[in-house]
Amino acid sequence: MPKLIVTTREGETRDIDAADGLTVMEAIRDNGIDELLALCGGCCSCATCHVYVDAEFADKLPALSEDEDDLLDSSDHRNATSRLSCQLPLTAEMDGLKVTIAPED
Ligand code: FES
Repeated sequence: MPKLIVTTREGETRDIDAADGLTVMEAIRDNGIDELLALCGGCCSCATCHVYVDAEFADKLPALSEDEDDLLDSSDHRNATSRLSCQLPLTAEMDGLKVTIAPED
């Protein structure tokens, strides 16, 4: 069961024990952090699940798809560590993953 460390927009940090097989978005949403809107439900079409991933985990993440890249381009808050959290399935290697919820667009 990978642990996820989430920093909210207010700067509060929460530790989440995520069930296997969930995406980062689902783990955040299922733990009552409702500022991550995830309006499309995880089908990579809304960009409201934007997070910044701690750079030390960059090489453990799945590759960015063209759709995800295009959607992130629509955000005013994109940076080099931006990802859509619905596109990040949690695996055992990602235990301790740190993400920060990006500002709302
Ligand atoms: S939940 Fe809509 S793109 Fe991730």
